[in-house]
Amino acid sequence: MKNIAIVGLGNMGQALLKGMLNSKAVDRKNVIGIEKDKSKADFVTENLNVKVFDNFEALKNVQTIIIAVKPQNIEEVLEKIKKIAEKKIIISIVAGITVNFIKKYLKNSKIVRCMPNTPALVLNGITGVYCDIVVNDEEKEIVKGILSSFGEVIFFENEDDIDKVTALSGSGPAYVFYFIDALIEAGVFIGLSRENAHQLVKKTFEGSLALLAQTSKEPSLLKAMVTSPAGTTINALKIFEKEGLKGTIMDAVMAAYKRSKELGRG
Ligand SMILES: NC(=O)c1ccc[n+]([C@@H]2O[C@H](COP(=O)([O-])OP(=O)(O)OC[C@H]3O[C@@H](n4cnc5c(N)ncnc54)[C@H](OP(=O)(O)O)[C@@H]3O)[C@@H](O)[C@H]2O)c1
Repeated sequence: MKNIAIVGLGNMGQALLKGMLNSKAVDRKNVIGIEKDKSKADFVTENLNVKVFDNFEALKNVQTIIIAVKPQNIEEVLEKIKKIAEKKIIISIVAGITVNFIKKYLKNSKIVRCMPNTPALVLNGITGVYCDIVVNDEEKEIVKGILSSFGEVIFFENEDDIDKVTALSGSGPAYVFYFIDALIEAGVFIGLSRENAHQLVKKTFEGSLALLAQTSKEPSLLKAMVTSPAGTTINALKIFEKEGLKGTIMDAVMAAYKRSKELGRG
């Protein structure tokens, strides 16, 4: 794989870098970072043994540039790389920034918009990807090789789907932690110690996902396996249904999708 640069070594930039190094998708001598915060740059150099620069000169020799800065910083980055980005693959993970927006600055680059999620930190992420029409199959393979180093990858044909990915799996870890936290509180509410409730809930999630991974059964069937007639589980599920929890979850994801489109720039 040719040289890669990551611009912005914050939470996500570092997660992606660690993923690429740990999975051996990239050798550390073939990757560089660009980061303006000196403490983060020093941290990456010392801990990951990767060269980090505070200017954009070093990008001249790379094939692929991953942009991992916050949306408010994207324009300054595009402005700085526009002269050297020609024909390079530009992978943006910046939420809401469209391919057209990036194209206004980088007319002749191969632009890829994607949305990873925080489990990328432990090489267990999932990334939705949309490639501009000019990105060819060989370049798509390069993109896949990079992104699959920290989890699964799904390519989408419509850019609008990336806003849906943002609402579902991009924000998804927050929903999962919200539900885990609520269950722990419920355990405390019925009289368990917080420590025991935490252990019980955490392992229940881990075990349920392991079960799901080992079967072709739909989640609704796995749910039915726990739900005996007139038993305890159906009494709990009845409350979820009465309170409209499923509808609430659908509304919440729709709200996130709408917000992602609202925030979008392009
Ligand atoms: N967190 C998530 O769950 C998640 C999931 C998917 C996608 N994303 C996207 O990932 C992107 C990064 O998020 P994050 O949480 O990793 O942000 P972050 O922790 O703030 O990291 C961004 C880093 O880029 C640096 N930076 C800003 N402008 C720069 C420039 N011109 N040159 C070099 N470095 C620059 C920032 O430095 P300063 O702090 O000094 O500004 C910061 O260290 C966002 O656009 C977000 O939408 C996040």
